[in-house]
Parts: sequence; C-alpha cells; structure tokens
Amino acid sequence: MASTANFAKGSKCFYEDATDSWTLVEITDVSAAEKPLYTIKAVDPIKDTDAKPKQAVLRQLVPVEMEWLTPIGDLLLLPALHDSLLLEHVRRRYWADKVYTQIGPIVLAVNPFNFNLPLYIDDRMPLYIKEGPAALQGSKLPPHHWSVAHLAYWDMRTKKRPQSVLVSGESGAGKTEGTKMVLNYLARVSTDTAAEGRRSRALSLMDQIIASSPILESFGNAKTQRNDNSSRFGKYMKLQFNAKGHLHGAHTTNYLLERCRVITHAAGERSFHAFYQLLAGASAVERKKWRLEDPMKFKWLFKGSEWTAQQKKQDTEDYKTVIAALRTVGFNSDEVDFIYAIIAGIMHLQTIRFINMRADGEDKCITTEEMYETLGFVGELWGVSADYIFMEITTTTTYIRDEEITVQHTVEQATEIRDSLSKTMYAATFQYIVDRINEILDKESETEPSQWIGLLDIFGFEMFEENFFEQLLINYCNEKLQQHYNKCVFLRDLDEYANEGIDAVTMQAPDSSPTLQLLESTTGILGLLDDQVARPGSDERYLSTVHRENKRNKFLHQARMLNGTFGVTHYAGQVWYQTKGFRDKNMDPIKSTLVDVMRESELSFIANLLPASAGSPKGEEPPAAKRKEDLTTVGRTFRQSLEVLMRTIDTTQPHWIRCVKPATANQPRMFDGKRVVTQMKCAGVLETVTIRQKGFAVRESHEAFWQRYKVLLPDYRAKQRLIMAARLREVIKLMDIDDLALQVGKTKVFMNAPAHKKAEDMRTARFHQCMSTVQQFARCKASRRVYHCKELRVHLVEIQRFTQAWYSGFVREAARVGHYEKQVRATELVQRFIGGWTAGRALQAKEQAMLKIVKLARTQLKKARLARKKSLKEKVQDASVADPYKAISGLTPQQELELRELREQVQRLEMERHILTKQIGSQEKWEEVVDEWSDLDEDEDEGKSVGGALETLKGAPRVCDMSDLLTGDWDRLKKRFALLF
Ligand SMILES: Nc1ncnc2c1ncn2[C@@H]1O[C@H](COP(=O)(O)OP(=O)(O)O)[C@@H](O)[C@H]1O
Ligand SMILES: [Mg+2]
Repeated sequence: MASTANFAKGSKCFYEDATDSWTLVEITDVSAAEKPLYTIKAVDPIKDTDAKPKQAVLRQLVPVEMEWLTPIGDLLLLPALHDSLLLEHVRRRYWADKVYTQIGPIVLAVNPFNFNLPLYIDDRMPLYIKEGPAALQGSKLPPHHWSVAHLAYWDMRTKKRPQSVLVSGESGAGKTEGTKMVLNYLARVSTDTAAEGRRSRALSLMDQIIASSPILESFGNAKTQRNDNSSRFGKYMKLQFNAKGHLHGAHTTNYLLERCRVITHAAGERSFHAFYQLLAGASAVERKKWRLEDPMKFKWLFKGSEWTAQQKKQDTEDYKTVIAALRTVGFNSDEVDFIYAIIAGIMHLQTIRFINMRADGEDKCITTEEMYETLGFVGELWGVSADYIFMEITTTTTYIRDEEITVQHTVEQATEIRDSLSKTMYAATFQYIVDRINEILDKESETEPSQWIGLLDIFGFEMFEENFFEQLLINYCNEKLQQHYNKCVFLRDLDEYANEGIDAVTMQAPDSSPTLQLLESTTGILGLLDDQVARPGSDERYLSTVHRENKRNKFLHQARMLNGTFGVTHYAGQVWYQTKGFRDKNMDPIKSTLVDVMRESELSFIANLLPASAGSPKGEEPPAAKRKEDLTTVGRTFRQSLEVLMRTIDTTQPHWIRCVKPATANQPRMFDGKRVVTQMKCAGVLETVTIRQKGFAVRESHEAFWQRYKVLLPDYRAKQRLIMAARLREVIKLMDIDDLALQVGKTKVFMNAPAHKKAEDMRTARFHQCMSTVQQFARCKASRRVYHCKELRVHLVEIQRFTQAWYSGFVREAARVGHYEKQVRATELVQRFIGGWTAGRALQAKEQAMLKIVKLARTQLKKARLARKKSLKEKVQDASVADPYKAISGLTPQQELELRELREQVQRLEMERHILTKQIGSQEKWEEVVDEWSDLDEDEDEGKSVGGALETLKGAPRVCDMSDLLTGDWDRLKKRFALLF
C-alpha cells in the first residue's frame, strides 16, 4: 500500500504507534537518504496536540486521503479498507459519542461506560419502533442495539424465519447490558401494538422474562478485575412470540459456568454475587437460621480484598432485588429457602480445614471439633448425615474380592473433595434455577415454530499472557461462531452475486475448519484430553501426546522451550495455552459415592438436585464397562451443548453485535487504540473487511455509481439523457478496469478493492484537474465580486432609503384608508338610520296634514253643495226658476269659477292622497327597519357602534386614491430589487 509518493512533506498518514496503535500524523520533514526517515507529528482531530515530533520509517506508515476521513454510515464502504482507517473512524465516532458503528453486517458497539449519553437519555427508542417493517428496506436511524433488535423482529415477522442476535466481546465490553437492551426493545416493540387486554398480559410476562436477568446475574455473575458484574457463564435466550408477534415466553440455555470461582478467586475479585448478597441482605431471622451473623467467619469469600461499606450496601439492595425477581418469575418461598440453604451450606463448608494426624501407624485426615460442628450444621441444612460427608471427604473405601479396604486421604485430597462438593452443589443449584425459570416461562408448545429470536450473550475470544483450559474452551466456542459467521457472510455474498447475475469469482473464504479439526477430532486437543479420563496420566503426558499426534498440523505450535504450553492458530491470532491443570479441569471430578450420599438426603429438594451421573471416579481405574464415550467431561459436555447451539443458530437468520471495551479502566471517555484494534481483530471485524477485499469490496446502486463517477466524463451532462445502462457503459469504458474486477449487476455495480481504488484515484485526479481551473475562475470571480458588492451596496442603500419612505407613506395611507372605510361604513349606517327616521316622521305629519286638508275640502265642498242646493231650492221655490238645470246653469260666472276650483282642488287632493297611501306602504317597510334598529339598539355593542359611527363621522375627510401611488412606485421598486437578485 505504501509508496514514497504518498509521503511527501505536509501529507497526512497513519503511523503505527507502539502504544496507541494507528495514529494520524502529518509528515513535517523527509530526510534525503536512500531509505528516508520521516519526521512526523501527531494530528488530533479534536484538540491541538503538543506531541513531540518523532522519526519513522516507511513500513510504519500507511497513506491516507483526508477525504477518507469524512464520516460515513457503513465503514465497509470506505474507499480504502485498512485497520488504521477503520480504527480512526471508530475513534472519531467514539469521541463524538457515536458509540455504534456499522461495518457491513456487524454492528460494532464500543462500551461508553455512560448511560447518560443523548442516545439513551433522549429515549429514542420510539423512533426505532415507529419505523416498523419499513426499516428492512434501509433504516434512516443510526445503528444501535435497538436497530439490530428491530431488524431481527421484523425479519422474523415478515420472513417467517427465526432470528438470532449474536452478541460477543471480551469481558466488560457490554455484552450483558447490550443483550438486556435488545431484550427490552423486543419486549416493547412486540407489546406496542397489542390490544389493551392482551397488552397487560404481555407486560406481566415481559416483567417475568426481564426479572430472570437479575436472578441469573446474582448466581452466575461475579466481580472480576475487568468487570464488576462479569457473567461467568454463557447464555442463549430464546424469546418466543405468538402468531401476532407478541412476546409470550422465553427459554434460556446456559453454557460453561465457571465452577472453580465457587471456591477460589483472584485477589481483588469475588466469588459469585449470591454469597455476598445473602450475607449482606439476609434478615435477622434468616441470619440466625443460616448462622450468618458473623461475616468474618467466611474469610474465604474476601480473599485479597475487603468488603467495603459501599459494596455491602449494594449487595443488600441487590439481595432485595433478587428476592423480588424470584417472586416475580414465580419461585415459591420453599424453593427460595432451599436455594439459599445450599448457598449458606457452601459458605460454611468452605470454612472447614483439615489437618494431618498420625495415629495407629498411619496418616489420617481430621478436623477440629468446632469445624466438625460446622460440618454437622451443613449436614443439617442439606438433610444429610455429617458423618457420611466427613467419611467420604477423608477416606475412600474400595472392595477387592469382598474385602473392604479403606484408604485415608491426604489433607490436599480431602480439601479437593470438599471443593468438588461445593462446586457441584453450586453448579447444580444454578442449573436448577435455570431449569425452573424455563419451566415457568417456556411456552415452546404455544409458539409459532418460526416466531422466536435467540439472544446469545457469550464470552468473546480471549488472548492473555497466560491462557488455560477455560480460555481453550472459550476460544473453541468463538472459533465455532466465527466459522458460522464466515459461512453466513460469505454465502450471503455468493447469494447476492447470483441474484445480481455476477460471475462468481474464485474467492478463498476464510475458513476455521483446520483449527476446529485440530480441536475436536479424536486425535485433536480436546479429543485427546478426554482420553486422559479413561486412563491415569498427567498434564505433561497429555501435552506430548498432543504434539505427537498432530506433528504435521501447521495450526499447532510447539514452544521452543519445554514450558508446558502449546500454541494454536485461531482466526484472531495465535494463542499459547498452559496445559497445567487441563486434566483435572476437564474431569472436574466428584466422588460418585459422595454424590450418592447427597442423593440420599432426606430433603427431596437436595436429593433430586444432583443427577446420578454427576459423580466420576477419582484416582481410580474407570470401571471396564464404562467406555470413553460414556464418560462425562467438561470438554465433552461443552462440545455437545455447543453442537446443539450451532445447529439451533444455523436454523436462524443471524445478526451480529460485536462489543468492544475501549480501555482497560471501566470509565467513560477513555480510548486505547491498541486495545480496540485487538478486539476488532478478535471480533472478526478485520476478517470481514478481508473477505470483502477478496471479493467485491464495494457494491453501489447504479444511480449512486453514476452520481459518484459521472464527473470522469467531460460531457456528462449530455449523457444524462441516455438510459442508465448506456451511461454506466460510458463511465466504465473510460475507467478501463478489468472485467473481473468491476461488474455491473442487475441493480448494483460491484468492484473489488483495487478496482475501487483505481476508480477513486481517477475521480480524485479529475477533481485536481478541475480544481486549478476553478481556482483561477474563483480568483477572478472573487475580485469581480468585490466590485459587484460595492455596487450592490449603493443600490441597497438607495433601496433602503426608498423602501423606508415608501413604507412609511404606505403605512400612513393604509391608516387613512382604514379610517376612511370605517367612516364610510358609519356614514351609511347613520344615514340609513337618520334617513329612515326623518322620512318616517315627515310622512306621518304630511299625511295627517293631507287628511286634514281633504277633510276640510270635503266639508267645504259639502257646505258649498248644501249652500248651492239651498239656493237652488230657494230659486225653485221662488218659482221664478222652473228648470233646476237652468237654475244651475244659471250660476253666475263667479260661482262657476269657484265650483271649478273646488273640483280641481278635490282632484288634486285625491291624487295626493293616492300617492300618500302608496308611501304609507313603504312606511310599513320602514317600520320594519325601525323595529330592527330598535332591536339593535338593545344590543349594547351595536348601540355603541352607532354612537361610535356618529362620532367617527365628524369631520370625515375625502377619499384618497392610493392606487396611483402604489402601482407606479411598485414597478420602480421591483426594478430596484431585480438588480439585487
Ligand atoms: N451500552 C452501554 N452503555 C453504557 N454503559 C454500558 C453499556 N454496556 C455496558 N456498560 C457498562 O459496562 C459494564 C460492563 O458491561 P457488561 O454488559 O456486564 O459486560 P460483559 O457482559 O461484556 O462482560 C456495565 O456494568 C456497565 O456499567
Ligand atoms: Mg456479561
């Protein structure tokens, strides 16, 4: 990867620092020698660093383009794949509190040792839940334990296939907390949609399932140097869902409890939490019942460290939590009593010491009276005779030809048997708890066969200075899981190639089979160890057999010096194992006769606790009938359970979470690059990158590929109208990359790492080329811009001035228009009111006057007629007038005129009356209006509004016409603005 061209002065690169792994540095100087020395200075992305310059040689440096450090969603899509670059990204994300990173199919979770991060306290869980099945098409949310759980849930529901979430990592990396997060998420997402009635049932079940965690942690976890709450067993928890996707049951399988921790632990560590919790939290009655009044009696529990007040307080609280959890899950009080009676019994048993005494010419193993009394109490607690226990611990009785031969044990042998009894009782109790939880929570029979999700929380790969039998089994387990991972990821790739119609290229998939063969075969490391059970032997003899049988196996290594070790090449590196103690640890024997004693306990709980097969002979020839295959060893049991686990996981769709502990201290904001790289290696992260590098490391959708590389075509805008296939052809032709290195699939373009690098280099070169042109243009533009800006400012000032004037004029006019409109409305209102009112009054007066006139006229007319009649009558009576008509016609001209006037007057008055009657019709209408008005008058506001309107009317101005002002000036204004944009 390195070439001197990448390491010019001023360029950045990664330097492999002995203490902090890969660090980003800048080359400040290069010596002129044939093999140049590079002076480098660390570059800290967060703060200025005062690191002193160092000297480096070429092989310590890896080139980097600053563009590669741009944050990216999936690190597998980085333009260059190297552990230095991966580490830098993970490191930068960590410091930005983004502790989850997607690397292909893996979610890498760096333990923040801080639950106060925004990603927890904001409680973003609902955001993930809300995405629903759409997340399967690509989630918009960042990776998280929840995102993995979410995908597993919806994959299970939509694909009708069981799922597994495989969480691994070293001790303290956050596996158990992570698994709990996944469990909580699944419980929540599955109950979120449940109907009210079902929901409460689902929630109480969820409580039971969640309550199983503190119980298992109490009996299976312990404080170690790496983790205050370290799980000393592996577990696979199958969460069962019903047809509607509601969580309704769980089944836990446990693996490889660290039995030796029951009796011993390193300085600064502790035995299982349950002992301390009982000692701190038991009530006064319980204390008395189990004789726990004096904690100092149990010094073996506090070897090498004191029990601080703070720890004691924590243990007291935890005891309460565990008791409550046992009740929630459904343990009855008798069971709880028996469980703690066994724990208390072990605590007392471990205080018993043996001494050697010579009597009757032979060495005997005895104990003090006080301790014998303690043993008596243990017997009482367990319903067994203390004499029998003591006899089994201190002697072995065999029968040779019906003759009873009793052999006295040494102090060491007696202590070993005592320890084996404690370990066996503890392990059996732990198993009982797991089985009982399963009995209560397992709903396998009601579960849809495809509707379950398995959560694996298991010890990650371990590689210490000194590694023992435990590490061998742990690493064997991880080798198996890695092989499963390789198969899945590799096969997934092949599947994708087939779906996309890509030529399957010859790729060597990483393969753990040779190592697994070395471990599991009959002549392999574990196989040969089981042979040791069948015959007497020693760790040394076992070691030489391993080397002899696997002489040609290049995955097995022999130490140059005889130091009792062998080396194994694992996927994560070479590990050297100390064979000391292998035989004993594998057999972990307990005398079968001692098991028989326990099985005869008068307490059925204890009698049923140990299976009959639990015992195995110690230091004796095995019975001839018992074949090697029938013997139970730790290695064999583990292998068998691992086989079952792998078969189970094989039926599921897997999801991987690799937990990483960022530094040795269990504290937030500490990042040790070297530790992280080692763990990434152990987690198979770098392996994943290697697989992808060997195959098509990069796969991009057609569109994404076109968008990224179209710039290589000088006239790419013109090509835009071609169909996508033609566009891609044009770009790829220009790239001139081997057909096998770059292939176009149905929806994606596949590139291997070198092809991708070439494409990226071409893109970078094209950008460089464009850059100088752009720079020139930019300079020119910049100076023009300065001038333009000045011009703009002038315009701007003018516009501001104008706008201010225009605006204040507008505001003024607007106020006036508003005022005027108000006035107009008020005028109309008042006019209507006043007009109506006055007209009404006038009309009434007029009508009355008219009526009066008409009446008067009629009276006068009547009078006139009467007078006329009278005069005519007089005239007729006067006999001088024989013809009345003549008499009339005989009116004097004056009389005739008067009569005509009167007639006309009457006609006029009739006309007027007619008109008035008409007007009275509209008068009725008016009265309606008046009525209405009077109604309004009753309304306070309206009344006021009329009053206000009258008030407003005073001094009403003329109407001002604003239209001219506005339209004329607006055009001008617009022109001004156009200059700006
Ligand atoms: N996701 C997390 N966020 C914050 N702190 C965590 C997280 N996971 C683990 N821790 C812290 O790290 C400690 C060890 O985690 P644990 O899950 O017990 O490790 P492991 O099971 O891998 O040994 C926990 O006690 C807790 O303080
Ligand atoms: Mg754990």
